[in-house]
Amino acid sequence: MLNEREREAIAGLWAEKLAQDARGLPRDERHRNLEPDSAEFICALAAGCHARALLEIGGSSGLSTIALAAAARQTGGRLVSIEVERSRQEKARRRLRALGLSDRVEFVLADAATVLDRYEGLEFVLLDCEKEDYVRFAGMLRLAPGAVVVADNILSHELWDYVRHVRRLAGVESVTLPIGKGLEVSRFPGGSAGSIG
Ligand SMILES: C[S@@+](CC[C@H](N)C(=O)[O-])C[C@H]1O[C@@H](n2cnc3c(N)ncnc32)[C@H](O)[C@@H]1O
Repeated sequence: MLNEREREAIAGLWAEKLAQDARGLPRDERHRNLEPDSAEFICALAAGCHARALLEIGGSSGLSTIALAAAARQTGGRLVSIEVERSRQEKARRRLRALGLSDRVEFVLADAATVLDRYEGLEFVLLDCEKEDYVRFAGMLRLAPGAVVVADNILSHELWDYVRHVRRLAGVESVTLPIGKGLEVSRFPGGSAGSIG
């Protein structure tokens, strides 16, 4: 569960995002954060799964990073937060430091495609990057048996190719939840996420 300071920090980030949207800033200057309800949910889910090895692709300014680092605080785990854009990640670093969550997070400034193979035994993963990369990145994850992968924007972006893909993987149980912009929550049986059964 998020504590009050974490919840306030998430509300603040969300208010900033809404203000940017209202000003009509160009897409690359706006933050595209996870919705607060989704943050609340992934924190509870990751903590409830006792996930200790967590990873997110697309940390941006840190809204989902707060949620997953809060889960890691509860499980005694660590989060790898991958983000390709430096200034967004700097903001996330500052926020996590202010919340006393820095020691729970390894910030990685990189295109996920170039670093994903460094991480194995992943127990909880959030996909929240460019939507056309979901299938490719899901196939690159080195998951622990029973790992949970959550993908955002399923309903807002109609990501049915990803949904179909993940549901065809051998042994995967998967459901779309109408939380925030739509979350696909998938439980993997173990091994690589790339083999289609
Ligand atoms: C929707 S935003 C993520 C929002 C974030 N999860 C949050 O809740 O605040 C998508 C982010 O993914 C990043 N991104 C896109 N492609 C990426 C890649 N290949 N590797 C790492 N980050 C990537 C973008 O720079 C952007 O900041």
